[in-house]
Amino acid sequence: MLHGKRILLIVAGGIAAFKSLELIRRLRERGANVRCVLTDAGAKFVTPLSLQALTEDKVYSDMFSLTDESEMGHIQLSRDADLLVVAPATANILARMAAGLADDLASTVLLATDKRVLVAPAMNVRMWTHAAMVANVETLKKRGITFIGPNDGAMACNEHGPGRMSEPEEIAAAIEQMIGGERTSASAEKPLAGKRALVTSGPTREALDPVRYISNHSSGKQGHAIAAALAQLGAEVTLVSGPVSVADPRGVRVVKIDSADQMLAACLDAGRVDVAICAAAVADWKAAKPAASKIKKKAGVAPPSLELTANPDILATLSKPGARRPSLVVGFAAETENLVANAIDKRTRKGCDWIVANDVSAATGTFGGERNTVHLITAQGVQEWPTLSKDEVAMRLAGAVALQLGRPRSIKAAE
Ligand code: C5P
Repeated sequence: MLHGKRILLIVAGGIAAFKSLELIRRLRERGANVRCVLTDAGAKFVTPLSLQALTEDKVYSDMFSLTDESEMGHIQLSRDADLLVVAPATANILARMAAGLADDLASTVLLATDKRVLVAPAMNVRMWTHAAMVANVETLKKRGITFIGPNDGAMACNEHGPGRMSEPEEIAAAIEQMIGGERTSASAEKPLAGKRALVTSGPTREALDPVRYISNHSSGKQGHAIAAALAQLGAEVTLVSGPVSVADPRGVRVVKIDSADQMLAACLDAGRVDVAICAAAVADWKAAKPAASKIKKKAGVAPPSLELTANPDILATLSKPGARRPSLVVGFAAETENLVANAIDKRTRKGCDWIVANDVSAATGTFGGERNTVHLITAQGVQEWPTLSKDEVAMRLAGAVALQLGRPRSIKAAE
């Protein structure tokens, strides 16, 4: 994680600059603060407004801006970060770095910094393999600049080979390796301090009679990991859990229930919360008339028929507009086909804000397994997350929740 880390992202002018927008999201989900320097050429590919909206911070471009220099001089800008990242790093900016030029804000900041620098090159394959570039890269590496990529593949110029900028996820992972996990201030580590969270987890059991029930294979691993991650970020968490064999997460209030009706009652009992995450696999149906005593098997008598009735939809209930509605309601969609389309549809049907969609077809081993491949569906679109452990999915989701709950109202309203 990158909670409380400050990253100065320099966006230079290359077609890969659009990926920098995605990189900002990836970094902010991990808890980092990102501030951008945009070069003149970079501004031909992405707008300062997009960078500003995603970073929720001012974008710096002008070396000679009187306001910027009086508020935050270029020396301070370069020192006020834990890491400088150049993405995309074009042939031009790498050459200027190697030569030690300081002819615009980006190159000046790079020359003035006392922090580590990570560059993600992006250029045509011939430019990357040119002797001048090879020499520049060698010079920069000798000076301690860290490189990620470029990757091999098809390029915008229709050529093929090394030159594609690394994917945002790869760059974010490299940044995490460079500066993640170091000591941060208490408030940065606990961005959810003072927030209340409700999580549902595990299966429900719907009694047919005192000894038999309908249920499903949910292990509760993902829901419990989410409760633990929210608590780790400082939230006061109530976990309403069906019968599971995973241990209670530390620092979380756990309410154990059996049926969907009990789960709903426990959720409503939890009082007002800022975020509700429904990760439970609630049984869709229950017995219309559960028997008060064990249904007897009688020789020669046909098996009893089972009349079912619908369970309350907890996610839809919590999502209902009103004063009690949490600021953020998150549901899960376990699908075996048409994952994204069904999940988008579910988000609207249930009235929740986000859906975490995961493929639970048998081949994925998601049910009861340790890993999960999910898509996060929000009003803004679909984010495809890489395959992660259930703990990593939980931490990343908790980071996204912290980011969302920490946003100023004006930005939430504009979305
Ligand atoms: O409708 P479906 O079961 O596919 O929706 C899944 C989502 O809805 C999950 O977030 C689950 O926790 C929630 N849900 C619920 N109550 C139900 C059924 C599903 O909260 N009765």
